Amino acid sequence: MKLRFYILFTAIFFAPNGLHAAVKKPLMNANNDIYDIESLQRGARNFMNYCSGCHSAEYIRYDVIGEDLGITQSQLKEYLMFNAQQTFDTINASMGSEDASGWFGQAPPDLSLAARAKGTDYIYTFLKSFYVDATSPTGVDNVVLAGTSMPNVLWELQGHQEYLQNENESKLEVYIPGKMNEEEFNSFLRDTSNFLEYISEPVKIKRQALGVKVLFFLAFFMILAYFLKKEVWKDIK
Ligand code: HEC
Repeated sequence: MKLRFYILFTAIFFAPNGLHAAVKKPLMNANNDIYDIESLQRGARNFMNYCSGCHSAEYIRYDVIGEDLGITQSQLKEYLMFNAQQTFDTINASMGSEDASGWFGQAPPDLSLAARAKGTDYIYTFLKSFYVDATSPTGVDNVVLAGTSMPNVLWELQGHQEYLQNENESKLEVYIPGKMNEEEFNSFLRDTSNFLEYISEPVKIKRQALGVKVLFFLAFFMILAYFLKKEVWKDIK
């Protein structure tokens, strides 16, 4: 009996570690925060400028983004809506997916649910892990997704990375700098993956806001009830 319990215990506690060890590349931490509205606004701008040419986000509408992130209709139209006519449109890629499959061999996936499927750490690390590889058709390869057909669309910001390897370790290093230093590029990626997490579950930030209101209401009501009780009982003592 004891032994069986021990086996079960061991299995429960060590299984997740075992699974974890199967992940080859450790992911970097995106450290994003979906309640940081300014970060989401910057992420929306990044996404529309650098990703929406190829990737759609078909489950989110512009007017919802505007409402959640405090962006007015005219700002939406001016700064974010390159591919759309109406604010109730969803985010379509500028490029048709047939063209894209032709050019890349693989259509860029819709990114509405990418953050839920893979996590923001994955997206952050993926975007940071392109390196120059002359043998690849796109001129780059990626440590996280080897052989990927996505080009390094952020090279202008990040610069070019090379893959360095010796017996003990392998690492990526920027050898031709881009417009951003590492810290600026990291926050660019944090904002972008933050926006992807937000669009993967837009009601989350609303739900949180409602929860806070309910708590305030309950606290307020408790104080009211306390004074009411005092008032009612004061003559009886
Ligand atoms: C020039 C077109 C293009 C642009 C611009 C682009 N991508 Fe991609 N992306 C692709 C293609 C093609 C794939 C499919 C790659 C594959 O499966 O090998 C892809 C795949 C992905 C994936 C899935 C990776 C995986 O593990 O399956 C993510 C996440 C992603 N892109 C995020 C982004 C983000 C964020 C941006 C904006 C910063 C962006 N992409 C800009 C073409 C593009």
